[in-house]
Amino acid sequence: MTYQPQSDFGTPAATSDAQITLTIDGRKVTVPAGTSVMRAAAEQGTSIPKLCATDSLSAFGSCRLCLVEIDGRRGTPASCTTPVEPGMVVYTQTPRLQKLRMGVMELYISDHPLDCLTCGANGDCELQDQAGAVGLRDVRYQPVETHLGQAKDQSNPYFDFDPSKCIVCSRCVRACDEVQGTLALTVQGRGFGSKISAGIASDNFLGSECVSCGACVQACPTATLIEKKVVEIGTPERAVVTTCAYCGVGCTFRAEMRGEQLVRMVPWKEGKANRGHSCVKGRFAWGYAQHQERILKPMIRRSIHDPWQEVSWDDALAYAASELTRISNQYGKQALGGITSSRCTNEETFLVQKLVRAGFGNNNVDTCARVCHSPTGYGLKTTFGTSAGTQDFDSVEDSDVILVIGANPTDGHPVFASRMKRRLRKGAKLIVIDPRRTDLVRSPHIEAQHHLALQPGTNVAVLTAMAHTIVTEGLVDEAFVKERCDWDEYQDWASFVSEERNSPEALEAITKVPAADLRAAARLYATGGNGAIYYGLGVTEHSQGSSTVMAIANLAMATGNIGRRGVGVNPLRGQNNVQGACDMGSFPHELAGYRHISDAATRALFEREWGVQLDSEPGLRIPNMLDAATDGVFKAIYIQGEDILQSDPNTHHVAAGLEAMECVIVHDLFLNETANYAHIFLPGSTFLEKNGTFTNAERRIQPVRKVMTPLNGYEDWEVTQKLAQALGLDWNYAHPSQIMDEIARLTPSFAGVSFDRLDQEGSLQWPVNDSAPDGSPIMHVDGFVRGKGKFVVTDYVPTDERTGPRYPLLLTTGRILSQYNVGAQTRRTDNVVWHEEDLLEIHPVDAENRGIKSGDWVRLASRAGETTLRATVTERVAPGVVYTTFHHPLTQANVVTTDYSDWATNCPEYKVTAVQISPSNGPTEWQESYAKLQSSARRIAKAEAAE
Ligand code: SF4
Ligand code: SF4
Ligand code: SF4
Ligand code: FES
Repeated sequence: MTYQPQSDFGTPAATSDAQITLTIDGRKVTVPAGTSVMRAAAEQGTSIPKLCATDSLSAFGSCRLCLVEIDGRRGTPASCTTPVEPGMVVYTQTPRLQKLRMGVMELYISDHPLDCLTCGANGDCELQDQAGAVGLRDVRYQPVETHLGQAKDQSNPYFDFDPSKCIVCSRCVRACDEVQGTLALTVQGRGFGSKISAGIASDNFLGSECVSCGACVQACPTATLIEKKVVEIGTPERAVVTTCAYCGVGCTFRAEMRGEQLVRMVPWKEGKANRGHSCVKGRFAWGYAQHQERILKPMIRRSIHDPWQEVSWDDALAYAASELTRISNQYGKQALGGITSSRCTNEETFLVQKLVRAGFGNNNVDTCARVCHSPTGYGLKTTFGTSAGTQDFDSVEDSDVILVIGANPTDGHPVFASRMKRRLRKGAKLIVIDPRRTDLVRSPHIEAQHHLALQPGTNVAVLTAMAHTIVTEGLVDEAFVKERCDWDEYQDWASFVSEERNSPEALEAITKVPAADLRAAARLYATGGNGAIYYGLGVTEHSQGSSTVMAIANLAMATGNIGRRGVGVNPLRGQNNVQGACDMGSFPHELAGYRHISDAATRALFEREWGVQLDSEPGLRIPNMLDAATDGVFKAIYIQGEDILQSDPNTHHVAAGLEAMECVIVHDLFLNETANYAHIFLPGSTFLEKNGTFTNAERRIQPVRKVMTPLNGYEDWEVTQKLAQALGLDWNYAHPSQIMDEIARLTPSFAGVSFDRLDQEGSLQWPVNDSAPDGSPIMHVDGFVRGKGKFVVTDYVPTDERTGPRYPLLLTTGRILSQYNVGAQTRRTDNVVWHEEDLLEIHPVDAENRGIKSGDWVRLASRAGETTLRATVTERVAPGVVYTTFHHPLTQANVVTTDYSDWATNCPEYKVTAVQISPSNGPTEWQESYAKLQSSARRIAKAEAAE
C-alpha cells in the first residue's frame, strides 16, 4: 500500500454499551457514552485540529488547539476532554474557532525552528500538518526568548531527542507512563521553563530508566523524538503490515519502507496482540537482517575440518540429497532426522516435518520447543485437553489477581508486561513466585502483594502447599469442580494435597517460603476475584516441568478460574512461533493438531494427502537423536533455524552427537555454533523476506508478509521444497498460502484458516472451524476440550541435581529485555549497548564469602563443565542462588547445565544446576580462542563486505 499514517481518532475508544446521539456541524452521529467530542467528530469524518491528543493516550487538554463551540455552553471547550452528551450540538469550524486556533498555532511556531525542508520529519510531522490545517501562513510574534538551539540528546542508539523542537505537549511522558509503564520521563520546570527530562539520575536517554520501547517516539507529534533511520534514510513511502519475529507476544508492525530500504517498524494499532505497542527488539532491533555476517551463498564441505566451499543452490541441494540418500541406503532410514524452528513460519515448520515423515520415511522430527515449552503441551493436554494457553491477552484487563510463576514478563514478554502492569496500576493484586526479585515484584506504582522467593526446583512443592491451603481452608469452588471436572479424580487429588506432609509448614524447609506468606498468597488467589496464572520457562525447564504445569492447572480448576475472561492458565511463549511449531506436528509422536502418530485414522488422512505410507512409531526426540548419534546409529540431520549447540543443555554432549554424524545440514541466517559441525550450510531468509504465518502465545495466527526480496534468493519454505524435490518428492507449492490450505485440510483446529481470511480479519485464534467459525479467544468456556477437567496428583520429587560441598550454590538462568535467546539476531544490532556480555548475579553474602566484587571475573563450574564471566553483586537473588543469562556464545552458559530433564518430555532442567563460584583471572583458554576466532571471522566478513 502507499504510505498513509495510521488513523488517529484523538482519544481512546469508549467501551460503554449505552449509545449517545449528538449533532456535529449539522450531522448526527451516534457513539458510545464516554466518547469525546473529538473522537465522535473523527468517527463522523470531521478532523478537529489537535496536538496534545492521540488515541493511544487519555485526553490531557493542554494545547488548546482542539477548541469547539457547543450550543448552550459558554466559551470554547477543548473537544478532546469534553465527553459527548445526548442532543449536544457542536460546531468545529467557525470563524471564531479558526482565529483562536491560528493564534495558538502562531505561538507554537514562533518558538519552533523553521527548518521544515531539511527536517527529518518533513512530510510526517503533525505540527506541520496542523499548521497547514489551521491555515497558518505568517508568524507575527518575535519572542524575546526561545528554546531554539538547545543541544540534542543522541545517546539512544535508535532515536534522537531534539529539545529545540519540543512543544511540551507531554505525549511522550504520558506514553511512557500509560502505555509502557516505565515512567522514565518527566516534565521539569513550569511555564516557559518546562522541559522534558529523561529522569533525575541521568541527563540523557541512554543513562535513564528508559527501556527504548519507542512509545514516546511514536507519540511525539513533532521531530523532537525521531528515529535515527528516518533522519538517515528519509520518510517512508509505503507500509506493509507484518508480525514481529522475536517473542511469543506476536506484536504486529507496519514495516515502513522507502524503496527497498526498511525505514522503521511502527507498532500497528489494529494489532490485537499488542494494540499499538512494542518493545525495543521488535521496534528497533531488525538491523541483523542486513548484517554483514549473514551468509547468502550455500556452502559445502566433505569434513567439518575442511574449509567451506561456496557452491550454487543446485549443487548444494543435489549434494545434500545425495548424502541423505546414501546414508538412508547405508544405515537405514531411521538414521535420518530433522529439527524445526520456532522462529520460522507455520508453513516452513510444516514442510520440515513433512519432509522428515514423507521424505526421510520416519518420525525423527523434533523442535526447539523440546527445550522450552514441551511440558506445557503435555501438562495442559492431560488436564484440559488442549496443548495451549486458555486466554487472549485482552483477558488480563478483567483479572483481579494475577499470579506470575517462573516468568519475567518485563524482560521476556515486554509488551504483554506493559498491559499487565496497566491492570495492576488500576488495582489488580499480584503474586510473584520466583527465586529472583524480578522487576514486577516492585516497579513504579506496582508492588507485588506476595513474592514467594522459592528455592529453585521446588515449584511443585509450593503449588501443592497452595492447594493444601485452598482445600483444607474450604476455598474450593465445589460447584465448578462438580460440574466441570472429574469428581473422583478431584477427590483423590484433594485428599493427597490435604495430607499434612503437603502443608506450607511441612514444606517450608524445602521451599524456603515462609508458610504464612504462602498461605496468604493461596487465599488471595482463591478468593480475590478473577484469578489468572501466567507462567514461563521457570515452570517448564525442570525435572518436574510437566508436573508443575499440571499443578497449575489443578489450582485453576479447584478455584473455578477457567473458562471466562480474566482467569485462565497462560504459558508465556519464549519464541515467536513456539505455539505454531508445536501445532504443526513438530514433535516425533504427533501430527499437526496434536494427534498421535499411532492413530490409524489420522495417519490415513495424511497418507491420502501426501501419497506415502507413514511410520506409526514415534520418532526420536532431540536428546535421543544425539544419543543415537554417539551410539553410531543416527547419521544425518537437517536443522532449520536452530542453534542447538548453544541453546541445548550440556554443550559437550551436543557437540559429541553432532561430530558423530556424517551429514549435518544447517539452514540458517548466520554461521552459528552448530554450523561448526555442519557439512552443508543453506542460507536462510529473515522474517522481512518471507510470506507465511506465526502463531503467538494466545493461539493467534497472524500474517508474516514479505517486505523485501530475500538476500539469499529464496524464502525458507522454498529451500525445503527444493530439498524435497532433490530427494524425488513431488512438491509444487507456488505460495505459502497453498501450504496453509493443506494444513487446514489436515488439521481440524485450523479448518477455517486461510490467507484470504487473515488478510481480511488481521488474525484468527485457533480453533477456527465449524464449531468456532470466528476463532476462540477463550478456551474451555462451556466445558473442557477433553470433556471433564482432569485433576492429576503431582507429588513433589526433588531433582537429582543436588548441592553439596563441591557445588554449594544453585544456578538458574533467564533472559534480558534487550537480548533474545542465543543472541544470534540481537547481538548483531545496537542492542548490545545494553547487554554486551552475560553477567553472573550473586548475593552479597555469597560474594563476600568468596572475595568477589561486582565486575570481577569468576569461574562458574558444575558437574557438566565450566566457564568464566563477570559477576554482579545484587540482592535480586537470594543467598545460595546465582543467576545468569545465556545470550552470548562467549559465555556459553549451557556448558554448565546438565543432562537432567523433565520426566515426561525430556525438556532440559536449565533452571537448576548445582555450581560453585570462585574468583578467576579471566576467560578460560577455550573462551579466548573462541573470541579470537570470532574476531578474525568478523574481520574477514568485513573485508569481504568492503570488496
Ligand atoms: S518530546 Fe514530543 S511528545 Fe514529548 S513533549 Fe516534546 S513534542 Fe511533545
Ligand atoms: S522509549 Fe519507551 S521507555 Fe523510553 S522514554 Fe520512551 S516510552 Fe519511556
Ligand atoms: S514484545 Fe515480543 S513480539 Fe512484541 S515487539 Fe517485543 S519482541 Fe516483538
Ligand atoms: S488536542 Fe485537545 S487540548 Fe490539545
